[in-house]
Amino acid sequence: MTERGFGGRRIRLVQGDITRCPADAIVNAANSSLAGGGGVDGAIHDAGGPSIMEELDRIRGQGCPTGSAVMTGAGDLPAKHVIHAVGPRWRGGGKGEEQLLASAYLSSLRLAEKAGAAVVTFPSISTGIYGYPVEKAAPVALGAVSEFLKAEAKAVREAQFVLFDRFTFAAYEAALGAL
Ligand code: APR
Repeated sequence: MTERGFGGRRIRLVQGDITRCPADAIVNAANSSLAGGGGVDGAIHDAGGPSIMEELDRIRGQGCPTGSAVMTGAGDLPAKHVIHAVGPRWRGGGKGEEQLLASAYLSSLRLAEKAGAAVVTFPSISTGIYGYPVEKAAPVALGAVSEFLKAEAKAVREAQFVLFDRFTFAAYEAALGAL
């Protein structure tokens, strides 16, 4: 299953590069110091240009604890906003990773909602450098987003997960079907 409706809204799964997917808000998998990095963080800053980091430099002092998110402009990306969300590092499970991962998605959706974003794109937060097993992360991510779409969403009409490789895509496809 690659897309599913939730209360008149929907989740779609796409395989590709999130920096090439137009959206109202693109979510970045950032770190708590908002310092940029590799992975999708590096791709977003490379494609979006220096204005994104310049804006982060101005708000860095407020910090961005794990499970939270901040929003900036999108520079040269095909979007109005970038939402920098900080997911948890995988520490073997049972150390609050699940709650923090769900919180990173929810914090992002609430910022997108405030900004009036209709379409929000997500990478698979925490399943790269942060080592969260994707087969464990996918149900948590899809569960948090689908619950938001059913219970809280007003402006947000579609959440797209843009998954970088076939393995990750397949894990989310299985999890979406099992929701
Ligand atoms: N588009 C979509 N997905 C991507 C892209 C891209 N251009 N590049 C990487 N990904 C995927 C990875 O394959 C992985 O599935 O995004 C997912 C998240 O991986 P990371 O980017 O490594 O993010 P994360 O695991 O959350 O680690 C965050 O990495 O880059 C640093 O600054 C970042 O410290 C932070 C940490």
